[in-house]
Amino acid sequence: MCGIIGYTGNLDARQIIINGLLTLEYRGYDSAGIAFFSNGTSDVVTIKTTGKVNNLAEKLKKNNADSTPVCGIGHTRWATHGGVSETNSHPHSCGNVTLIHNGIIENYHELANMLSEKGIFPVSQTDSEIAAMLINYYYEGDACKAIRKAINMLEGSYAFCIIFSDKPGVIYSIRKNSPLIGAICDEGAFVASDVVAVIDYTKEYFILPEDHIAILTADSFKIYDLHGKEVIPDVMRVNWDIAAAKKGGYEHFMLKEIHEQPEAITKTISPRIIGGLPDFSNDNVPDELFKGISNIVITACGTAMHAGMFGRTMIERYSRIPVSVEIASEFRYSDPILSEKTLVIAISQSGETADTLAAVRLAKSCGARTLSVVNVKGSIIANESDYVLYTHAGPEISVASTKAYVVQLSLMYLIAYRIAMINNKLSCEEAKDKVNGIITAVNNMKKVLKMDEELYLITNKLAKAEDIFYLGRGLDYAIACEGSLKLKEISYIHAEAYAAGELKHGTISLITDNVPVIAFATQEHIYQKVISNVVEVRSRGAYVILVTSAGKHVDTTLCDHHIVLPRMDEEFTPFCTAVILQYLAYYTAVRRNLNVDQPRNLAKSVTVE
Ligand code: F6R
Repeated sequence: MCGIIGYTGNLDARQIIINGLLTLEYRGYDSAGIAFFSNGTSDVVTIKTTGKVNNLAEKLKKNNADSTPVCGIGHTRWATHGGVSETNSHPHSCGNVTLIHNGIIENYHELANMLSEKGIFPVSQTDSEIAAMLINYYYEGDACKAIRKAINMLEGSYAFCIIFSDKPGVIYSIRKNSPLIGAICDEGAFVASDVVAVIDYTKEYFILPEDHIAILTADSFKIYDLHGKEVIPDVMRVNWDIAAAKKGGYEHFMLKEIHEQPEAITKTISPRIIGGLPDFSNDNVPDELFKGISNIVITACGTAMHAGMFGRTMIERYSRIPVSVEIASEFRYSDPILSEKTLVIAISQSGETADTLAAVRLAKSCGARTLSVVNVKGSIIANESDYVLYTHAGPEISVASTKAYVVQLSLMYLIAYRIAMINNKLSCEEAKDKVNGIITAVNNMKKVLKMDEELYLITNKLAKAEDIFYLGRGLDYAIACEGSLKLKEISYIHAEAYAAGELKHGTISLITDNVPVIAFATQEHIYQKVISNVVEVRSRGAYVILVTSAGKHVDTTLCDHHIVLPRMDEEFTPFCTAVILQYLAYYTAVRRNLNVDQPRNLAKSVTVE
């Protein structure tokens, strides 16, 4: 959600900010804005617009600055408080203060009332403007003092970039529960919601510590704690190539990211395979974490939660420890039964998701052990969990998660095998075989990636459908859930996933002539059961796309399309079925001429409840 970039240096700030905002577009937004010191003086120019960053760039061209502005802040807004309008867009100004904000000020009503008693009124409906008003109210020339006083009164989450009209060339920044990274190089100092916004200038960055004030000038980046003591942050280095954040010849990021999956899995699992066995010692995750566990709770949202559903089956299958999968937004308010013998595994690509973060905090407060599976290095969820296993998918730009999902699956395999080994449920020999199975599955996944033309043809029918159903049992049910989510989010077609046996308990009434049903039947022990369910929908007229493993003789009257996976161990079909569901969603959206990478209403990282 909301993208932030601040820059002060020796280059044209407008250009850097627009480029930065374009790289942050993936986070999801509905309006954009920029503020800069027009000519090194106290003259702050603010330009805002609804819609795309390109609209903002066009509007910016009409502004004739006297000289090149070298300091400014830019923002993409995803509306929460107040509708989508220019007035509600950021930056917001009050007196000397102009700021951009990501997060939610929960007590903004209270603060607005307090300010109104002093005759200070907002012009927008946003919580962010209240912060600008509050900082300006306390401002008497000392920026840090005013910021400290104001944030003392704020409840909620924030990442701010603030400029003061009487301090040209200086940017102040502070954050709590919202991400901000900082960077400094020859061209100047940067602050941004994500390192992708600065990667063209430097690969070195640092995470801004929470509730510390950062002061950026053209040649310095200082960070102070709330007592005014300077703090030196740990510098991190981006470990992926800059090309990873560009489209690289593909029509969409989503397609590129689908193709990057085998490599992402290999990068994720390789450092965790030692002597052919799953091993997390390089991650400093001790075996003790997995000993004496009474139960495991996997918590996450959306696609990450579907990876968790898969993880549950795998962990229970091998270690026989009870696992539940909890939607993070439910879990956090569910008064869960947790103890020091509970292991809570939080899965998150962004590491920022507000509900998953709250779930981790709740788990810790109940004394449970916490392990997170996170893609973004140094993110809040990673920092707050007792232990973290990073997935190495690299930056995922398309809003619809693809490669981040399969790397989560790959770690679920390794976690399941490791827990089972440690609890003497899986021998080293068996674990080695399993690990080899993953490696072989990655090769099979590459074969399925070449089935794009076949899958494209199938979407001709799907693109015209109003409702689509996904069926599966066991591991295939978890895959079906992801299939329906992927299709919905980018093609805007209503889709539902059903545990195949459940359909006849009500939903089968929706199956009529030509309603597409995509059935996954890759698991031998329940194969016939899924086929029976396919027969049920077929006899009601469904248009059936059936996915099975190689070697299955399928009655051709049962389906309109039979998608055959390469011959493989059924435990590892999810890597291949994931590609199928992703292609089906992708090509359906492409056929419908939709904005695949930035679907409507969606944000890449959901930092609000
Ligand atoms: C769907 C999708 C979302 C995310 C969910 C959790 O394609 O991307 O459902 O999976 O918002 O996000 P993270 O993994 O960042 O916690």
